[in-house]
Amino acid sequence: MGGTSPHLVALWAWLLAPGLLLAAGSGRKWRSNIVLFLADDQDLLLGGMTPMKKTQALIGQLGATFANAFAVTPLCCPSRSSLLTGCYPHNHLVRNNSLEGNCSSPVWQKFQEPYTFPVYLQKQGYQTFYAGKYLNQYGDPKAGGVQYVPQGWSSWIGLVGNSKYYNYSLSVNGREEKHGDRYEEDYLTDLITNRSLAFLQKHARAPFLMVLAPPAAHSPWVASPLYKSAYSTVKAPRNGSFNVHGKDKHWLIRQAKTPMSNTSVEYLDNVFRQRWRTLLSVDDMVERLILQLKSLGLLDNTYVFYTSDHGYHTGQFSLPIDKRQLYEFDIRVPLLVRGPGIKANQTYGEPILNIDLGPTFLDIAGINVSLTPMDGQSFLPLLENRTPVNKWRSDFLVQYTGEGCSGQDPHCPALGPGVSQCFPDCVCEDAFNNTYACVRTLNPINLQYCEFADAQDFVEVYNLTSDPHQLVNVVKTVDPSLLEQMNQRLIKFQACSGPSCRS
Ligand SMILES: *[C@@H]1O[C@H](CO)[C@@H](O)[C@H](O)[C@H]1NC(C)=O
Ligand SMILES: *[C@@H]1O[C@H](CO)[C@@H](O)[C@H](O)[C@H]1NC(C)=O
Ligand SMILES: *[C@@H]1O[C@H](CO)[C@@H](O)[C@H](O)[C@H]1NC(C)=O
Ligand SMILES: *[C@@H]1O[C@H](CO)[C@@H](O)[C@H](O)[C@H]1NC(C)=O
Ligand SMILES: *[C@@H]1O[C@H](CO)[C@@H](O)[C@H](O)[C@H]1NC(C)=O
Ligand SMILES: *[C@@H]1O[C@H](CO)[C@@H](O)[C@H](O)[C@H]1NC(C)=O
Ligand SMILES: *[C@@H]1O[C@H](CO)[C@@H](O)[C@H](O)[C@H]1NC(C)=O
Ligand SMILES: *[C@@H]1O[C@H](CO)[C@@H](O)[C@H](O)[C@H]1NC(C)=O
Ligand SMILES: *[C@@H]1O[C@H](CO)[C@@H](O)[C@H](O)[C@H]1NC(C)=O
Ligand SMILES: *[C@@H]1O[C@H](CO)[C@@H](O)[C@H](O)[C@H]1NC(C)=O
Repeated sequence: MGGTSPHLVALWAWLLAPGLLLAAGSGRKWRSNIVLFLADDQDLLLGGMTPMKKTQALIGQLGATFANAFAVTPLCCPSRSSLLTGCYPHNHLVRNNSLEGNCSSPVWQKFQEPYTFPVYLQKQGYQTFYAGKYLNQYGDPKAGGVQYVPQGWSSWIGLVGNSKYYNYSLSVNGREEKHGDRYEEDYLTDLITNRSLAFLQKHARAPFLMVLAPPAAHSPWVASPLYKSAYSTVKAPRNGSFNVHGKDKHWLIRQAKTPMSNTSVEYLDNVFRQRWRTLLSVDDMVERLILQLKSLGLLDNTYVFYTSDHGYHTGQFSLPIDKRQLYEFDIRVPLLVRGPGIKANQTYGEPILNIDLGPTFLDIAGINVSLTPMDGQSFLPLLENRTPVNKWRSDFLVQYTGEGCSGQDPHCPALGPGVSQCFPDCVCEDAFNNTYACVRTLNPINLQYCEFADAQDFVEVYNLTSDPHQLVNVVKTVDPSLLEQMNQRLIKFQACSGPSCRS
């Protein structure tokens, strides 16, 4: 498949497109349409879904809510690469947000992108549309620039670089489009909404796949003028691990200052409010798209998914703001789904991973996931109540490679090299040796076991039943045979590929 030009694939898709004829009727359909909303940095545990009232009503209450959805790595580019390929990081080899770490790098484009889910769907006759943030280094001149359109997309509106709300460039099917900062024309979340509505109106030919990837709730947190004074009295939640010193955790968490300074607390409260404000425009996006699908008569044959690339924290363990940590607030994500055959108000407790989305989309399209390199598994059988609960996975792998800087931070002269994200108050949120792998098991025990690749081979273990906020590292008190068992499981997971990641 690596040798086929995208144009040829698009031509074949057009010639073979039989979806229009097959879209009529009721109940479960062959090759339904698929829409994915992919938010950025939106947490689940700190109230990240609170601003999303319409989304919860239009997707969750008319479909399914997954209470235990996780990202397999808590950083944008590696996580989005997992979502696109259906693979754990040790198999797609995207280590961090930079080109050297394979984020949208030429080798990624050559060896991994040909196996992303849109490529399979396009071959199966789907028309494929992408709008918004893709991978952080997308559009870089060293990675083909804006002319480069990733494989698999027949309509492409890709944001150049990392999340922005104004003053950004897009690649519109390989042509650069520059935007300034006039709200009516440039606010990126609304622009993605408008272009998506136009696509549906003018071009949508079933079956289609749409991915809408707004910048919210990522920095720089610029709200729409409609919402700039919403939530003016809201503060980050003070319960759980907020402003608690992680005294028995690895060194990076121990360097945080507890209590945080008042300026840090003010800063994170402000960020917390700004994040919610940016999400209100995403809530509008979901509503407007669903209304459009409905008015075009497409809604009954369309699966709609809502999720985020990973979680976020504001003050937990006295870390002011960021992601990148192994704890629940950074790895849990929202996941809502509605679609043909899915009953209203369903809640599922099975662990679902971001690497399961690709396999699920392939399954909807009638593609056999076993014939692909994907590590995840389709949860369509769960949605259709075809898989008994005891047949689903009970544990999974979380992997992270820490980012650092080789030089010294001029704002924090007391810190040595090797750390990064040291703001505010010179509290560092990452380092080269913040590199870890964890087994997270939900059944029959609710446990997390993590090993660090640092000078101490540090281990953290949490009993999530007795300690849902991960306040106590039980590595020294838990039964040593359990540690041995978890270590073996971790070794197996880190070498898994395809079917062996699913068993
Ligand atoms: C789903 O649950 C919500 C909240 O409990 C309720 O208001 C709504 O009527 C339910 N919807 C359906 C279709 O059952
Ligand atoms: C980047 O990907 C290539 C090929 O997929 C691989 O050989 C290389 O080791 C990866 N780089 C890193 C830093 O993992
Ligand atoms: C956009 O760029 C212009 C010109 O550099 C600058 O004046 C303006 O403040 C920027 N707007 C935003 C929202 O960053
Ligand atoms: C999106 O469309 C709405 C209504 O059609 C319009 O008011 C708004 O200015 C548009 N925004 C952008 C960024 O295109
Ligand atoms: C904090 O309290 C809120 C409101 O009672 C609750 O919804 C949330 O789950 C709690 N969060 C934590 C981390 O305990
Ligand atoms: C920080 O805030 C707390 C609580 O609002 C207050 O009691 C304390 O005096 C403040 N400290 C400083 C140094 O401003
Ligand atoms: C999918 O492919 C696998 C591996 O070739 C095969 O064993 C399985 O029967 C196929 N499943 C379906 C539903 O065709
Ligand atoms: C990203 O990963 C590459 C390859 O391992 C490494 O050389 C680079 O220093 C990393 N970047 C950061 C910011 O940590
Ligand atoms: C991790 O790296 C930092 C920065 O290079 C260093 O100060 C620290 O001692 C290291 N800790 C461990 C446990 O390796
Ligand atoms: C976790 O805590 C629960 C509740 O206190 C306890 O029943 C269980 O034995 C603990 N699990 C382990 C592995 O320690």
